[in-house]
Amino acid sequence: MILKGVEAIRFVSLILSCQLSEADGQQLTDGQVDVVSARLAESALLPWELGTRAQTILELNATTYSVFNTSVDLPPPVRIPSSISTAGSLVPFFAIAKEVVTNRTLSNNNTVGPQPLVNDSSAADPASIGVSVLLANLTGQDSGEVDYAGAATDQLNYLFTDVPKTSDGAISHRVAQLQLWSDFVYMVPPFLATYGVMTNNITLLEASYNQIKLYRSYLRDSQTGMWRHVVLGDDSLDTPNDPGFWCTGNGWAAAGMLRVLMTLRQSEFANTFTNEQSDLSSWVSEIHTAIYPHLDSSNIFTNYADQSPTANGSFYDAACTALLASTVYRAATLLNQNTYIPKAEASRATLFSTNATAPTSNATTTLAGYQHITSDGWLTPVVNPHSYNLQGSESPEAQAFVIQLYAAHRDWVLATSKTSTSPPSLKHLGGKNMWAIAVGLVCFYSRWT
Ligand SMILES: *[C@@H]1O[C@H](CO)[C@@H](O)[C@H](O)[C@H]1NC(C)=O
Ligand SMILES: *[C@@H]1O[C@H](CO)[C@@H](O)[C@H](O)[C@H]1NC(C)=O
Ligand SMILES: *[C@@H]1O[C@H](CO)[C@@H](O)[C@H](O)[C@H]1NC(C)=O
Ligand SMILES: *[C@@H]1O[C@H](CO)[C@@H](O)[C@H](O)[C@H]1NC(C)=O
Ligand SMILES: *[C@@H]1O[C@H](CO)[C@@H](O)[C@H](O)[C@H]1NC(C)=O
Ligand SMILES: *[C@@H]1O[C@H](CO)[C@@H](O)[C@H](O)[C@H]1NC(C)=O
Ligand SMILES: *[C@@H]1O[C@H](CO)[C@@H](O)[C@H](O)[C@H]1NC(C)=O
Ligand SMILES: *[C@@H]1O[C@H](CO)[C@@H](O)[C@H](O)[C@H]1NC(C)=O
Ligand SMILES: *[C@@H]1O[C@H](CO)[C@@H](O)[C@H](O)[C@H]1NC(C)=O
Ligand SMILES: *[C@@H]1O[C@H](CO)[C@@H](O)[C@H](O)[C@H]1NC(C)=O
Repeated sequence: MILKGVEAIRFVSLILSCQLSEADGQQLTDGQVDVVSARLAESALLPWELGTRAQTILELNATTYSVFNTSVDLPPPVRIPSSISTAGSLVPFFAIAKEVVTNRTLSNNNTVGPQPLVNDSSAADPASIGVSVLLANLTGQDSGEVDYAGAATDQLNYLFTDVPKTSDGAISHRVAQLQLWSDFVYMVPPFLATYGVMTNNITLLEASYNQIKLYRSYLRDSQTGMWRHVVLGDDSLDTPNDPGFWCTGNGWAAAGMLRVLMTLRQSEFANTFTNEQSDLSSWVSEIHTAIYPHLDSSNIFTNYADQSPTANGSFYDAACTALLASTVYRAATLLNQNTYIPKAEASRATLFSTNATAPTSNATTTLAGYQHITSDGWLTPVVNPHSYNLQGSESPEAQAFVIQLYAAHRDWVLATSKTSTSPPSLKHLGGKNMWAIAVGLVCFYSRWT
């Protein structure tokens, strides 16, 4: 019998996923994720750390408000579902928005007008908190006593009016000089896109895409396909340039693009932005295609992805490895890009591996014996996020990346189990589902041999 193209792909990918599911032994328990979450909560203090933590809370615990949830149209519900409010999942999320907006009001003596949510040397990082501020406004937190909408609007206007720009319009990542960092893609475009869907402003949705397009034009290296970290600045002013292929920066870019793509796709303007969605999809794939060949047999990337681990100053970085793997699971689930799933599975198995017996109960909180997570719950080894060319320890963003990886893998498993073999519906099996039965038999056979 001849397989039709689509069925053949489905057949092969199902066999692949049944074999890969043997790596499931390395999944963290709920209790262990709580330990990692606690380290994230106590360590995230700087603007981009707060913004990244906020996004992580949605992806793990409040998926109704995550743009990766394809069953929610944007803007998301004004009324918070009772399952989420009862569990208190958004309490730490809104606490971030409230502290930032309240601090701003206290320190600026109620001045209105263009200004960042937090004063910072980065023009971009404070905007990453803007998504939580917009959701606080949407869901009516604090009954109008905190001006979330005003704070978000001032942040938006600040980006457009007060921050240096390239002649073609790329907004600087820095306040003191015009300089572009790959990190920007995670910090600003998702805020612009979220603001756009909250206020029905098509210009802002367009801007979220255009900023990414511009950043890619400056940062992507046409030889390797990877993104450089920091360009255009004057080394004698402010922060130096960093033309290397910083691994975390490639992860920030891929993850930011996925967030914007999904925001466009689930908005009422999805049909207006079809070309933009397909560009973003191919730009995510382009990063994976460029960077994954640099993953060696350790399954962990080096801090600059093309550097040998033995080069002077080089080291392995579990943080970017977790972030990139999370983007591979999201791209597989949402965009049907499955090529790098085996690599992401290998990285996940390594990062979550233990030399002790893997825990079987979700209540287990111990991390004793984990190779890449300390008994306190810190991912290791990691780049120092405050000094990106040095190895560090206890990185707040790395804690967020572990949880994003966990959540992206969880959602991928859920999505593949929905589309794969479903024994209860055997009576509905028609011709094309014969392949599902075949896959089931192959899986069954491979498990027992
Ligand atoms: C997710 O929810 C659990 C249970 O309430 C909590 O312990 C954990 O800290 C939360 N994680 C994050 C990242 O918010
Ligand atoms: C998406 O959101 C819906 C509505 O709140 C929820 O029922 C569902 O569990 C979410 N899906 C995922 C994959 O988290
Ligand atoms: C808010 O202000 C307090 C007091 O100045 C400070 O300790 C805290 O770090 C600020 N919080 C944020 C999120 O900036
Ligand atoms: C930032 O600094 C300016 C000038 O010092 C001040 O007016 C403003 O209130 C500060 N904003 C925040 C959010 O701290
Ligand atoms: C804050 O604003 C009030 C009223 O506009 C003014 O009287 C006061 O001097 C201002 N305080 C500071 C510290 O600027
Ligand atoms: C804030 O919420 C109000 C009420 O839902 C809405 O009209 C407004 O557009 C929102 N503002 C922003 C900036 O999202
Ligand atoms: C959309 O946002 C831009 C930037 O803030 C603003 O200039 C424009 O007036 C807005 N358009 C609409 C229709 O609200
Ligand atoms: C390694 O790099 C450091 C800092 O970049 C430099 O000072 C040192 O001389 C280098 N060592 C070797 C052996 O090249
Ligand atoms: C842990 O919880 C997940 C869902 O939260 C469930 O699917 C799984 O079966 C649980 N595992 C154990 C060992 O209880
Ligand atoms: C297991 O791993 C931990 C942490 O890496 C290490 O301290 C311990 O010695 C290892 N135990 C064995 C039996 O290899």
